[in-house]
This record gives sequence, structure tokens and C-alpha cells, in this order.
Amino acid sequence: MAKEQFVVTPWEVSGKVDYEKLIKEFGTEPITDELLGRIKKHTKELHFMLRRKIFFSHRDMNWLLNEYEKGNKFFLYTGRGPSGPVHIGHLLPWILTKWLQEKFDAELWFQFTDDEKFLFRKKQDAHLEDYQKISYENALDVIAVGFNPKKTHFLVNSRPEHAGLMHDEAIKIADRITASTVKASFGFEDSYSIGQFFITAIQAVPAILPSVLKGKNIPCLIPLGVDQDPHFRVARDVYPKLGFYKPAIMHSKFMTGLLADGKMSASIPQSTIYTTDTPKEVEEKIKKHAFSGGRGSLAEHRKYGGNPDIDVCYQWLQAFFEPDDKKLAKIYNDYKSGKLLTSDLKSYTIEKINAFLKEHQKAREKAKKQLDKFLYKA
Ligand code: TYM
Repeated sequence: MAKEQFVVTPWEVSGKVDYEKLIKEFGTEPITDELLGRIKKHTKELHFMLRRKIFFSHRDMNWLLNEYEKGNKFFLYTGRGPSGPVHIGHLLPWILTKWLQEKFDAELWFQFTDDEKFLFRKKQDAHLEDYQKISYENALDVIAVGFNPKKTHFLVNSRPEHAGLMHDEAIKIADRITASTVKASFGFEDSYSIGQFFITAIQAVPAILPSVLKGKNIPCLIPLGVDQDPHFRVARDVYPKLGFYKPAIMHSKFMTGLLADGKMSASIPQSTIYTTDTPKEVEEKIKKHAFSGGRGSLAEHRKYGGNPDIDVCYQWLQAFFEPDDKKLAKIYNDYKSGKLLTSDLKSYTIEKINAFLKEHQKAREKAKKQLDKFLYKA
């Protein structure tokens, strides 16, 4: 692959992602200061992931806000494909989703695509039931983010009551999507199973399910990592044909892995911080593996300064762990000038991550008793 090439699909992210180019390729719109101003009118403040354009792109946000301003409230929809343990990259879109739920007092529908992860499994001897178990573990992480149990509804695709609820709409959506559209959108070949072809239809359903259940059209906003956009790019052509609104979408950039560019991915454990990692594991992974923008020697670093723009710890503070803009700017400037050393930056990041994980893990334990409140019941 040439250096400037990259791939972003729901199942593969590789190369150095050029987000401006992605906006053009996917046909989305950049999140502008003007749009942020419109959001702020309602939320009074802006989450740092918005201020810093970690959420960088959108579809139809102006339409969504027009509807909201007319009194037509929206619901939120997002999800998780339970392939293994949750890592901190997954939490990124969910944290903004929680903030949006609070600020707009919105219902949230959250889908677990255990069926998808079975169909796309790497180990051929794995069973559908294995992914149902992972769904349960992952659901604890979702609850730990702090969603409102009264306003949050989990749909687990393989649970009969949820599958039954979604089946008819999935069939109607699938009826409108040809195999050639799926092939062109995801690069599938004829060797792919018909189950894999069907997944987009199932992932599309929760964006209209509340409208179906209430018998009236309700606007929907989907915050997600940009790799999941292609499902909705396909489905958005279908919704109006079935009489529904197209959902609005906000896309986040990827949290990079420890080893540098690219998306943090559970398939590269040494590049990934899991939500269940111990303080020691976090420390070791960062000290050993975090790609740094520092110079070769201490003397050189002091003299010429480091490069925060390629430093993984800095990227993580910016995207997730340092909400305070002033502190972040000081870290940036001190690292660039050589005053702040790589070892200091790593220690600071380890502290921040471990403080976050301590709270998350406590909430994750408590979540075991709360799961029932979150599962959707008709
Ligand atoms: P999944 O489980 O791969 O990812 C869950 C969410 O996390 C995002 N994500 C990331 N965001 C930032 N940095 C990263 N390194 C990173 N890795 C993953 C994903 O984009 C996603 O938003 N099929 C879906 C599950 C799903 C879904 C949805 C997702 C069902 N319905 C609606 C979004 C919206 C999946 O496998 O996601």
C-alpha cells in the first residue's frame, strides 16, 4: 500500500487516515465552528471532544437542529460489536453520546451486534453463544459510562425478544439493498457469506425502531467512530423509501493505538489499553510501547524539543484524558520546547488513564446489578 493510501471500512482500518480526504470520499460535511455555535446555543457549553474537533464530521446536523428547534426532539442511537474486551477507543464515542443524552435529555438505543461478530469471526470454531457472553461483559462497560437507565434501551441482536422486534424492519431494509451495492461499499467478494451481506440491514434498524414503535417519525442522531459510517451511507438511501427520516450522524476520529498511527484495535493487544487493565499493565504498556515524539537523547530533546503531534500520549490526552484546555496547551508547548521530557509525559498520561480506569472499573462492578434495567422490554 502506498504511504498516502488508507482504508476505512467497518471491518478494516489501515494506513494513515487523512480525515479531510475521508470527508470527501464519504461525502460528509466537516463540523464547523458555526455548527458548534448552533449546538452550544442549546447545550450552553461544548464538550472538549467537540471543541477540539475529535468529532470532525457529520451528516444532516443542521436538519436535526432545525427539527429540534421546532420542538421535534431526537433520540440517540449507537452500538458495539462484541468481538472481545472493550478498549478505551470504544469509549470515546460513547462518552460524547452520554453527554448528548444529558444535554438534550434524549432517549438512547444501544445495539449489540453479537450476530455480526459471529459472522465475521476470525476463529472458525467459535460459537454464536461465545459472542453472547462477550455482549454481557461489554454491556457492563457501556453501563459504566453512566447512561441514564430510565432513558437507555439495550438491544442484543441474538436475544429472541430483540431479534423479533427488529426482524420485519430488517427484511424491508434488506429488500432495498442489492448485493452489488454491498460489494461496492464494503469490498465484499462472492466468497462472503449471505449473513455478512445482511448485517447492514440489521444495524440500520434501531435508527427507525422508535418511530415504528411510536407510530410516528422521530429524528435520530448517531454518534459513532467514522469506520461505522458506511453502513448508514447505504441505509440512508433506503429510509425515505420506507417513509422514515434519514438519521443525522456525528463521526469521531480514531484513538490511535500505542504503536502509533491507525486505529486502536483489540486485535493488537500490545497496542491497546483495555478497560479492565490493571494500573501495572497500563504503566508497562505505555512505558514499553507508546510511540513517542521525543528525541533520541535527553540532550537533544532539551535542545531541539519533541513533537507532540506524533506523540501517542499527547494524542490520547487531547482526545480523551485531559479535558482542561489550558493544561493541554501547556503540555503541548513544554513538550515542543524540550522542557517536558518523554518520561514525564508518559508518567502524566499513565496517572490520568489509571485515575479514569479506577472509576470506570468501580462503575463496571456496580453495573452487574443494573443490567436488567437497561435491556429493552416491550
Ligand atoms: P465496534 O464494536 O467495532 O465499535 C464500537 C464503537 O467504537 C468505535 N471505535 C472507535 N472509536 C474511536 N477510536 C477507536 N480506536 C475506535 N475503535 C472503535 C466504533 O466506530 C463504534 O462507534 N457494528 C458496530 C456496532 C454497532 C454500531 C451501531 C456502532 C451497532 N450499531 C450504531 C455505531 C453505531 C461495531 O462493531 O462497533
